[in-house]
Amino acid sequence: MGASSRGELPRLDWNGRDESMAALEDARASTRPGFHVAESFSESRPTGSVYQGDNLHVMSHLWRRGERFQLIYADPPFFVGRNFRQKSRIKLPSGQVVPIQLDAYEDHWNRDEATYLSMILPRLVMMRDLLADTGVVCLHADQRMIGYLRALLDEIFGRDRFRNEIIWNYAQGSAPSNRFPCKHDTILVYIKGRDAPFNTAAARLPFTPHAHDKRGKNYGGTMGVDGDGREYVEKWGTGKKKKYRYYLDEGKACPDVWTDIQSIQSAAGERTGYPTQKPLLLLERLISVYTNPGDSVGDFFAGSGTTAVSAQNLGRKWTVSDASSQAIHQIRRRLLSGSIPYRALRSDEDPIPPLSGRAVLRDNSMEVCNYTPDANFCRQLGVDPGDDHVNLIDIMTVDTNPARDDECHRVAAHWCRKTPDESPRTNPPAGKHGALPSVFATDLSGRRVSLAVTTD
Ligand SMILES: C[S@@+](CC[C@H](N)C(=O)[O-])C[C@H]1O[C@@H](n2cnc3c(N)ncnc32)[C@H](O)[C@@H]1O
Repeated sequence: MGASSRGELPRLDWNGRDESMAALEDARASTRPGFHVAESFSESRPTGSVYQGDNLHVMSHLWRRGERFQLIYADPPFFVGRNFRQKSRIKLPSGQVVPIQLDAYEDHWNRDEATYLSMILPRLVMMRDLLADTGVVCLHADQRMIGYLRALLDEIFGRDRFRNEIIWNYAQGSAPSNRFPCKHDTILVYIKGRDAPFNTAAARLPFTPHAHDKRGKNYGGTMGVDGDGREYVEKWGTGKKKKYRYYLDEGKACPDVWTDIQSIQSAAGERTGYPTQKPLLLLERLISVYTNPGDSVGDFFAGSGTTAVSAQNLGRKWTVSDASSQAIHQIRRRLLSGSIPYRALRSDEDPIPPLSGRAVLRDNSMEVCNYTPDANFCRQLGVDPGDDHVNLIDIMTVDTNPARDDECHRVAAHWCRKTPDESPRTNPPAGKHGALPSVFATDLSGRRVSLAVTTD
């Protein structure tokens, strides 16, 4: 498959490989309906898009439209062999606040590597096709599947397009008694063409003084200060033929083992509760090294939207997608709470959100007064479907000028739940045409519904 190494490498084979490539061809040639903008947030033109749906469908749609990306970061399920859940809390009618767990995504693959490989192969090929000529893919995995994934990427991109195997070392994790504790993930980096940007200056690390120097001034060479007052250390190169000068304010080159980025801590401000969420710092390093401001970044296994937030922070355009409604819910919540403009797109095949509750507009305040969740969700939480469920709502959005001719909900005001006993309430700006606002609510399960609006 790789242009430069075709036929030279041994090829991974498994039952179902050919069928998975046939699925790729079907996706490329697909006549399936596309996507429409279901929601937009911000007055200005959004730089980011959030697609809900299977990523083979989303990526083939983008590919047919000619969209190309400078960087695609992929953090697929790791083949952990279990399902993942989002942690949250609810207030019961008794007033008691209890922790709950909500379905996020599945990662069991019938415990069969072949099933996993059949899922990932067409998606990796589609990612390569979606890259710009100078594009880069960063594939994040752990010790379970990394060997297989590296063989697949060698085949898809060509072995000579391999750039790095980044080891992200962190402190968290269990300590089994029969092996060394696993304390790292791996990020495989491949480039599509012969060249790709590599902004080394974006990933420099501070020099660390030698521990035995109490003054913190011993950097393993001769210290000095130049005419501009800049501190440096000079060290001999190998063979003592040449002396090199390193300025302390420039820092040192970042190696391929990253030990300076913590995994998400339980008290971290950026924590969303979405399982397997990655830190912003990790994404910010990858994005700033492999892209320039204004470039496009894609992430089609987006989870809680870490790539979207990092790309936005760095002034890049971004497109993310996920198949899980819980993931899309967390992404929207994160973007709304961070005032990050976006467009949320849904498949034209998706049903229109049902009407499932009522909001009242009184004295410029929009308040939800009843909500009927899905009966299965009530059962899962162990709550009575007949009770008042307004406190299960997690996001409310208001469009003050709903247009009749399209399905796009333009968010003019929003509310995101912060504590389990908060009631959904917001103060929308006045609408232009005297029409009643349209209101949508999303509950903790990620189910998005519309609410009937009254004025008394
Ligand atoms: C490891 S998580 C990503 C976490 C993310 N990097 C973050 O920081 O939150 C993997 C994600 O891939 C999504 N996913 C798995 N298979 C998918 C598919 N076929 N299409 C779209 N998303 C998929 C899951 O729903 C899950 O949210």
